[in-house]
Amino acid sequence: MRMYDVIMKKRNGGVLTEEEIREVISGYVAGEIPDYQMSAFLMAVYFQGMTEEETVAMTEAVAHSGDMVDLSAIAGIKVDKHSTGGVGDKTSLIIGPIVAACGVKVAKMSGRGLGHTGGTVDKMEAIPGMRTDLSREEFFRVVNQTGLSIIGQTGNLAPADKKLYALRDVTATVDSIPLIAVSIMSKKLAAGSDAILLDVKTGSGAFMKTLEDSIALAKEMVSIGENAGRKTAALITDMDIPLGNNIGNSLEVMEAVETLKGNGPADLTEVCIHLAGNMLYLAGKGTIEECMALAKAKIEDGSALERLAAMVEAQGGDASVILDPSRFAKAPYSMQVFAEKEGYIGAMDTEGCGIASSMLGAGRQTKDSAIDPAAGIVLKRKVGDYVTKEDVIAVLYTSDSSLLEQAQKKYVSSVRIQVEAPKKEPLIYARVT
Ligand code: URA
Repeated sequence: MRMYDVIMKKRNGGVLTEEEIREVISGYVAGEIPDYQMSAFLMAVYFQGMTEEETVAMTEAVAHSGDMVDLSAIAGIKVDKHSTGGVGDKTSLIIGPIVAACGVKVAKMSGRGLGHTGGTVDKMEAIPGMRTDLSREEFFRVVNQTGLSIIGQTGNLAPADKKLYALRDVTATVDSIPLIAVSIMSKKLAAGSDAILLDVKTGSGAFMKTLEDSIALAKEMVSIGENAGRKTAALITDMDIPLGNNIGNSLEVMEAVETLKGNGPADLTEVCIHLAGNMLYLAGKGTIEECMALAKAKIEDGSALERLAAMVEAQGGDASVILDPSRFAKAPYSMQVFAEKEGYIGAMDTEGCGIASSMLGAGRQTKDSAIDPAAGIVLKRKVGDYVTKEDVIAVLYTSDSSLLEQAQKKYVSSVRIQVEAPKKEPLIYARVT
C-alpha cells in the first residue's frame, strides 16, 4: 500500500478497504507514515466523510493499536458512560455511584479537560489525596470492593488516538463526525465494558452545536458499538446552558455531592436520573421507567452517596470532604458579577462560560499548566430568569486575583439579556439506539 494512493482515493471520494485502513493506522503508529501524509488523509476524510464500514474498520484499528482491557476479573455486567464534553458536566461523579448502588459495576476510564470543557479526572483530583493513576490490579480491586472506580486513561489505551488527536488539533480536523466517532469509540471499546451509554451533548457549550449533527454523531457511535458486540445507546442532552450551577473542579464535586444528597439543581438531577436509568436499562435491570425509579431511590436512601465516599476512600482520597463538602479548600478571591441590564436571561454562550472558568484557573491555558482546583464559577441566575442591574448573576472564584477582571468580562459577554422571556428548551432531546 502506498500512502499517496490511499490519500488520493479518499480525496476523490473512494471507499477504503478494511486492510487499507488497518495499514494506515499501524503505519502511522509505527512512525512509517509521516504527519504530513496523515494530515492530508485526515483532511480528505474531513471533506469526503467515511462509510459506516470504513468508520467501524478505523475504530477497530485504532482500538487495537494498544491494550484491549479485559474486565473479566470483575464479576457481572460492566457498564460505561461517555459524555462528548460540556460545561458543568459532573454527571459521571453522580451516576457512577448510583449505578454501582444498584449492583451494576462501573469500571470507568475518564479524561482531563479539553478546550473549554471540564474533565472528570481533573474534578476527582480536586479531592485531597485522590489517586486516578491506579494500576490495573488496584483498579479491579476497587471495582470489586466498591462497585465502581474512575481512573485516568492508562498510557497504552488506543495510542493511535492520542497521536491522531494531537494532529487533528493542529490541522483543523477535530470537528469531523466520523473522526470524533472513531476517537471516542476506539477508547470505549479498548476500555472493555459490556455496555456503553453515550451522552451526546448538543448546543453552544458542546462540540456539536446543532441537534442534527449531534444525532448523526450518536447514530455513528451506536452503530460502531453494536458492530463490536457491545450494547450501546445514546442520549442527546442539552448543553446550550451550563449543566447545574457550579463550573470548576472542587465546585463541581461539591455540587455532585449535593445532588447525591437529593439537594442538587433540578436540571442536573433530571439529566443524571435519565443517564443512570439508561445505564441500568442496558445492564438489564428493567424497563427504562423502572430503572429511572431505581436510580431515584438510590439517591433517596443515601446509598449512592455512600458509594462515592467508598470509592474516594479506596482510591486514597479524603472521604470526609465528600460527607462534608464545606471542608474543601476555598478560593481566596471571589467577585460578584452583576447583570448588565434589566430583562430576561435569554441565552448563554456556554462555551464562553467554560472559557471564563478556565481563565480563572479551572482549566489549562497550555498543555502543561497546573489546574487551580478551587477556581470556577457559581451561577446564581440562568436562562429564563428575570434580572435587574442589582442582581448578582454569578460569583467567580480564583486563587489569583489578577485573573478576575478578564474572566468577569468574558462571563458578562457570554450572557444575553433580552426583553422577552425565552422559550424553554428540553434537557433530553432524543434517545438513539
Ligand atoms: N472527545 C474525544 O475523545 N475525541 C474527539 O475527537 C472529540 C471529543
